[in-house]
Amino acid sequence: MKEEDRARVLYGRRMGRPLRPARRRLMDELLPRIQVEPAGGILDPAGLFDSPVEDVWLEVGFGGGEHLAEQARRNEGVGLIGCEPFLNGVGRLLSEIDEHGIDNIRILPDDARDLLDVLPDASIGRAFVLFADPWPKKRHRQRRFIGPDNLPRLARVLKDGAELRLASDRMPLIRWMLFHTLGHPEFEWTARGPEDWRRRPDDWPPTRYEAKALARGEQPAYLTFRRRPRR
Ligand SMILES: C[S@@+](CC[C@H](N)C(=O)[O-])C[C@H]1O[C@@H](n2cnc3c(N)ncnc32)[C@H](O)[C@@H]1O
Repeated sequence: MKEEDRARVLYGRRMGRPLRPARRRLMDELLPRIQVEPAGGILDPAGLFDSPVEDVWLEVGFGGGEHLAEQARRNEGVGLIGCEPFLNGVGRLLSEIDEHGIDNIRILPDDARDLLDVLPDASIGRAFVLFADPWPKKRHRQRRFIGPDNLPRLARVLKDGAELRLASDRMPLIRWMLFHTLGHPEFEWTARGPEDWRRRPDDWPPTRYEAKALARGEQPAYLTFRRRPRR
């Protein structure tokens, strides 16, 4: 396998249980109306939305979409793009969008790297990668989303001063993300003390995986980085 092909392998599940009929219908009817198509050159993220947006935020691996939907509700002037290859999660978010009439979310039901590669430089005002797959085995570490391959992609598309929000309850992944993000010249960690990473900020809605971690008695880390201004 060539190096570039290896980098494009998507790890993880695309489907769990068969979708319920109502969600299958949403996949057929609603998803095509709000789906992002990354093929065909550079994509203007603000142009994906029906009304003008003041900013565009991106969530990688939104799972069931709880955080994305809540951010969309709280920030009606912002356009949100979510990437998630696990189609049951996409179906869950579509139900939420349909039920609550949310109109400021667009979805790539696929690998976030496909989107990162077609976004213009400095076009995203905030990015979230929350409770990413931890890939605990040593031989699988290169599969972790935050690392030497994707941090340069994120740095390129984030605006000067934009936040990159990361979370996990798995200590090896927390250390790994800190090591790589602190070592990246374009990012600085905003934490000044333990409370800044031990407590989830009020403008950061919870996720399903966070709830599972808390139920197990784990202390998640909430890591906010800022993209340094370009010189
Ligand atoms: C452990 S789950 C966490 C889901 C959600 N963020 C939460 O906190 O509940 C990680 C998610 O990342 C997704 N994922 C993995 N690789 C991805 C990629 N390259 N692009 C987009 N999503 C990805 C997986 O499908 C999975 O749903």
